[in-house]
Amino acid sequence: MAKTAVLKIDDKEYPLPVMEGTEGEKAIDTRQLRTASGYIAYDQGYGNTGSCESQITYLDGDNGILRHRGYPIEQLANQSEFVETAWLVIYGSLPTQKQRKDFGQLLRQNSAVEMQMQKILEGFPTSASPMAMLSALVAALPAYYPDLATNNFEKDLKNFDLAAAIAISKIRTFVAMIYRYQKGLPFVFPKQELPFCDNFLHMMFSEPYKDYVPVPEVSRALNLLLLLHADHEQNCSTSTVRMVGSSQANVFASVSAGISALSGPLHGGANMAVMQMLQSIHDEHDDGTRFIAAAKSGSKSNRLMGFGHAVYKNFDPRAKIIGEACDVVLKRLGIDDPLLAIAKNLEQAALKDDYFVSRKLYPNVDFYSGIIMRALGIPMNMFTTMFAIGRTPGWIANWREVAANPKGRIYRPRQIYVGPTKRDYVPISQRG
Ligand code: ACO
Repeated sequence: MAKTAVLKIDDKEYPLPVMEGTEGEKAIDTRQLRTASGYIAYDQGYGNTGSCESQITYLDGDNGILRHRGYPIEQLANQSEFVETAWLVIYGSLPTQKQRKDFGQLLRQNSAVEMQMQKILEGFPTSASPMAMLSALVAALPAYYPDLATNNFEKDLKNFDLAAAIAISKIRTFVAMIYRYQKGLPFVFPKQELPFCDNFLHMMFSEPYKDYVPVPEVSRALNLLLLLHADHEQNCSTSTVRMVGSSQANVFASVSAGISALSGPLHGGANMAVMQMLQSIHDEHDDGTRFIAAAKSGSKSNRLMGFGHAVYKNFDPRAKIIGEACDVVLKRLGIDDPLLAIAKNLEQAALKDDYFVSRKLYPNVDFYSGIIMRALGIPMNMFTTMFAIGRTPGWIANWREVAANPKGRIYRPRQIYVGPTKRDYVPISQRG
């Protein structure tokens, strides 16, 4: 029998339906609360609000569990690769050999960027933020593919496969182009025969008359890095994508908004902030005490970057995988990065400190991801764009869920107004 919760305000009772997910997650459905009682549910930052039902990712923050379409992240990290996981996240099952081959083909066919779009990039100052340029380039995609981005769910879903491949493939190409543009290097065209990650490294690092030669360890590390970012439930950028998409905005417009949301230091920008912190500890020959002490002051701008998570309150399973991968990758590439030792010491110091222990603050995925990116030769200012390449499948999958939901409605939260009550307009001549 369906359960009901009862809310009692004064002496009146309001029955509210109870929902339960396939993994036992429980919710009280408050959709009718306002109509029935005049009250809204208040939840600043939506930390305790289920904004949708979703079949894509299951996350249990208390137990450090992350699964995409039912598959544990640990198994995907060990046995899958980014493109396969992207398909899984978007379409809901592991691809057959044919589906995987066709998807790879579609990605390859849509990897090159139009000459006119290159001109958009060249219109930006070379000092511009890579995330600002990336978001703008993705926002421009509907102008080049109007048939795939009509702002009509039915039509856009019919062309979804192509739009998804364009977004995934071109975002990777844009990132390589942004990198080369900022360095004053000529753009390198994608090579049809290369797999997704090698093609990215080719576009990033090929030199005139000297093509990048794929290194299996590097490709594997990049694959892992992107795979670990493929989706993460209703985080800030994904919820942004869903919110924008709920207005029937096309997938490119919605993903562009997601990129903007990702750029903030409390979200995707944290990987850069972590490396800046580790670098200053290194340069100042400090042992991290200064950063730990500052983080404990409670000021938002002094937080220990790469620590804490809005949902994981035990450990971030991605941080565990990436932390272990750091050792392997650096060893395989023969790199001795002093920042890795600093990060490990800092982690140990924080994990012994009551401030962090009592608040359940543990390393998150961003704590070690920068060290891997640095080993791959990716400069710090490009870190968050790498996160964007990895997260694109998740954004697209979430957009598709919104677009395909016949019962979906536009996202429109309410608020509690705490500003001035009604007052009369005073003409400027009488205001002194
Ligand atoms: N350093 C020091 N103190 C922290 C940190 C931190 N990194 N994170 C949280 N706290 C403190 C808060 O000040 C608060 O203390 P209080 O109870 O004394 O007021 C307590 O821990 C709880 O913090 P909340 O703000 O409730 O944590 P919330 O879940 O809202 O924030 C967030 C999560 C934004 C990730 C936060 O931990 C943070 O700012 N971390 C650093 C930035 C970072 O690494 N972001 C990447 C997140 S992962 C990702 O986006 C891929």
